[in-house]
Amino acid sequence: MTEPADERGGEGAAIARAAAALRAGDLVILPTETVYGLAADAANPDAVARLYEAKGRPSFNPLIAHVAGLEAAERVAVFDGRARRLAQRFWPGPLTLVLPVRAPAKVSDLARAGLDTVAVRAPAHPIARALLAAFGGPVAAPSANRSGRPSPTTFEAALEETGAAAAAALDGGPCRVGLESTVVSLLDEPRLLRPGAVTRGEIEAEIGALAEAEADARRSPGRLARHYAPNAPVRLNAAAPEPGEAFLGFGSGAPGPFNLSPSGDLREAAANLFAHLRAADATRPRAIAVAPIPDDGLGEAINDRLRRAAGFVG
Ligand code: TXA
Ligand code: MG
Repeated sequence: MTEPADERGGEGAAIARAAAALRAGDLVILPTETVYGLAADAANPDAVARLYEAKGRPSFNPLIAHVAGLEAAERVAVFDGRARRLAQRFWPGPLTLVLPVRAPAKVSDLARAGLDTVAVRAPAHPIARALLAAFGGPVAAPSANRSGRPSPTTFEAALEETGAAAAAALDGGPCRVGLESTVVSLLDEPRLLRPGAVTRGEIEAEIGALAEAEADARRSPGRLARHYAPNAPVRLNAAAPEPGEAFLGFGSGAPGPFNLSPSGDLREAAANLFAHLRAADATRPRAIAVAPIPDDGLGEAINDRLRRAAGFVG
């Protein structure tokens, strides 16, 4: 059942109903500034089990616990100086921190996939913040796509992916950022597990050099090759489309309706990436050809998602 914010008592009432759904162990479609999430009470293993089931996600892939801010995060995870510094600089916002879980664990074992660590993030979207305030506890929310599909960046795409499994759905409009949060592990030396909306340079400016994620998929389980994949094959670094191909261009002069940013702006390209991949895929092309994207700043995260969409190991 969807809950348009402007019906039956307005946005406040829709948020109260969504919080009640979480308390009842039901799932909620939740807008964030990065991508739409499918949310559940992180402390409730039955609700989390239904979340994995709705996504078709392998249960070894742990979930992010969404919290209202640093104070709430410190009830869930153990922060050191660097972690606090990053949270103070980038929260609320698109940065996820992997930290030791605080005992007794307030995020269920299932949501942590059995690890003694927990990923925490305070999202910036006002509707996400309102729901977290109304609910009062950590909320597990993977991207609302079915496993292996591109993350939804519009309300409509989220409903299409996992809306059938949700008891409530909050419409927050198109996602401002359009790429998932950056995931940084602070377990030993700081490590970039997933490039994302906060760039490597922005993080390194706060805490110094970041180590690369290990290839070991158990330590960085989000880095699976088949991730973010549309139905059509994806061809990277294409100068131009071949017959039958859809084309995701970049910069002025690129043809077609799926130009990621006519002005060559990486922020705009990030915001458009998943929506354009979806729209291009819907034309049932022979393949989706993608123009080269510069690898600096946000380009690192864009190219990471594109390599996964093309099926290359990250
Ligand atoms: O922007 C986002 O982060 C979105 C919105 C909804 O907040 N959420 C999202 O969640 O992208 P998800 O579940 O699709 O990705 C979470 C990533 C995965 O790569 C997962 O492996 C990693 O975080 N992760 C979660 N807990 C972890 C842990 N304890 N150790 C290492 N990686 C972890
Ligand atoms: Mg995801």
